[in-house]
Amino acid sequence: MALLWMLIYFTCCVCGSGQCINIDDNCSIVFATEVHDVTCYVDEDDTLCFSDILKTINKHKMATEDNESAVSLRINCKNGAKVSMKQPIKLQGLTMLEVRNCYIQNYYDYDFSPEVSSIEPSLRHLTFSNCIFEYRNSVFTRNVLNHYSEVLKQERCEFPQNLEHYILRNISFAFPEPFVINDPYYKEKEKYEKQRLITRCIYDNLTLIEISSCSSITTEHTINAILENGIFTALTEINLANNKLSRVPTSLFTDVMYKTMKKIKKIDLSRNSLTDLRFLYRPFTFSGSLYVDVSQNRIAEVSNEDVRTLKSFSKFSYNAVNISDNPLRCARDQQTFYEFVKSANNSRWSSYRYLNSMTCVHQNQQVETLSKISYQDDDEFDLLPISPACILSKDINSEKEQNATNELSDLKSLVVGLTESMNTFCDKITKRIDDFERNIPRQIASIIEIKVTEEIRKVKDQFQKELETLSK
Ligand SMILES: *[C@@H]1O[C@H](CO)[C@@H](O)[C@H](O)[C@H]1NC(C)=O
Ligand SMILES: *[C@@H]1O[C@H](CO)[C@@H](O)[C@H](O)[C@H]1NC(C)=O
Ligand SMILES: *[C@@H]1O[C@H](CO)[C@@H](O)[C@H](O)[C@H]1NC(C)=O
Ligand SMILES: *[C@@H]1O[C@H](CO)[C@@H](O)[C@H](O)[C@H]1NC(C)=O
Ligand SMILES: *[C@@H]1O[C@H](CO)[C@@H](O)[C@H](O)[C@H]1NC(C)=O
Ligand SMILES: *[C@@H]1O[C@H](CO)[C@@H](O)[C@H](O)[C@H]1NC(C)=O
Ligand SMILES: *[C@@H]1O[C@H](CO)[C@@H](O)[C@H](O)[C@H]1NC(C)=O
Repeated sequence: MALLWMLIYFTCCVCGSGQCINIDDNCSIVFATEVHDVTCYVDEDDTLCFSDILKTINKHKMATEDNESAVSLRINCKNGAKVSMKQPIKLQGLTMLEVRNCYIQNYYDYDFSPEVSSIEPSLRHLTFSNCIFEYRNSVFTRNVLNHYSEVLKQERCEFPQNLEHYILRNISFAFPEPFVINDPYYKEKEKYEKQRLITRCIYDNLTLIEISSCSSITTEHTINAILENGIFTALTEINLANNKLSRVPTSLFTDVMYKTMKKIKKIDLSRNSLTDLRFLYRPFTFSGSLYVDVSQNRIAEVSNEDVRTLKSFSKFSYNAVNISDNPLRCARDQQTFYEFVKSANNSRWSSYRYLNSMTCVHQNQQVETLSKISYQDDDEFDLLPISPACILSKDINSEKEQNATNELSDLKSLVVGLTESMNTFCDKITKRIDDFERNIPRQIASIIEIKVTEEIRKVKDQFQKELETLSK
């Protein structure tokens, strides 16, 4: 996939079923201050062909007697209209390409003609937004794989070194051709992948990488391929928001990352599915200031380890982490976290003052402001230990009036006062009820229900005895 992004030069188009749009009718070309500003609108069911754009732009360049000027190209599709970017080409001076809402066909990024090979890439801003890339083995095989020795010679860097902004927003892939496992193509591709040697290129002008609202697989694959193969002397922001990430890509928060991007200031991981802060890491040698956004994720607990990580990440410099809008629970074992919230009022952790106004949810669904939590007072907490596996309270609050859960409700009120030993008990019972609800056919469910009820009664009696001994 990394291949997709190397050179962005296009040529020649064979329009498929749809109608090729007329560039003169559907594109506007404005020439001002050394830049040809081209904007195209593609109607539903139509196809925009790059070769046509190229011809028109070259004509304009001739007319303005300025073949050195820059070209900035925006393509807007309606309802997934098609764009055929058949081959990398000579669009001399293309500095900006922005493609929106298009279904992109025939896309690959090599041309092996000497003419094209000699072009110096000039692209500075690249944006694909709400686009689907169609990938066909046959196209790739015919056009790239057959030339793989040339690819090996040509492909040095992951993308053009002039690049400043690289933005993929809500993009996905379509694979209309079935994959044939024993296809000789795969052997060939494997050989090719092995020999492909990307060198770590230096990107002096790249300041922003955004891969947002994509799949977690696309995101991880793409960001790792980029970061593992470059030195980014100007990169300040990486935006990976809204990608369904349940873990942070392996190329982030490593020693190598800090060595290869000394100016990094912001990493946006908001609107993902992260559950903890363990990924945070900063070496002593990093002297910049880095803001990490993990708001709107799935962090329910900030463990002692998380607090340690957070503190050591934030020490010595002005690094800060935004954990706003996470479904925090008011778990008792987060004492270190509550202490941290309190200490956030002094200047040392001033970037964490916002934690004071954040809220957590008690087991009984009651919402509490973090600054108000009084963790020293046991009465403030539900006394049943809160472990994620224990869904007792959920059952009790659920609208289903099941006898088994009524029993559990009784049980809960019974065992208030018993602490740690309840953990395992709670987990066991919960698991049993869980399994029984999910996996067992109705007819035997009732039999088991009776059994469970019996079991619960036994345990209940046992606890009653224990309670009596305790209260003496
Ligand atoms: C493209 O040009 C055709 C022919 O002039 C016109 O009918 C159509 O509305 C144009 N489409 C857009 C999206 O501008
Ligand atoms: C620009 O045009 C001139 C004359 O039309 C030509 O000699 C020159 O090679 C062109 N330059 C490029 C980079 O195409
Ligand atoms: C994302 O892109 C797809 C087309 O690829 C589009 O149908 C969808 O509406 C887009 N989603 C958003 C939130 O824009
Ligand atoms: C980076 O930008 C500067 C100024 O625009 C330019 O002179 C330089 O050639 C660019 N570097 C690369 C690698 O494109
Ligand atoms: C933290 O994230 C929240 C929710 O996305 C946002 O409202 C807030 O402005 C962020 N705080 C900072 C300091 O950026
Ligand atoms: C910290 O400051 C906030 C507002 O500045 C305040 O509401 C909160 O009660 C303070 N917390 C402590 C522990 O002093
Ligand atoms: C609950 O228990 C009562 C009395 O023990 C019984 O009549 C009722 O059928 C039970 N309900 C369910 C859903 O098992």
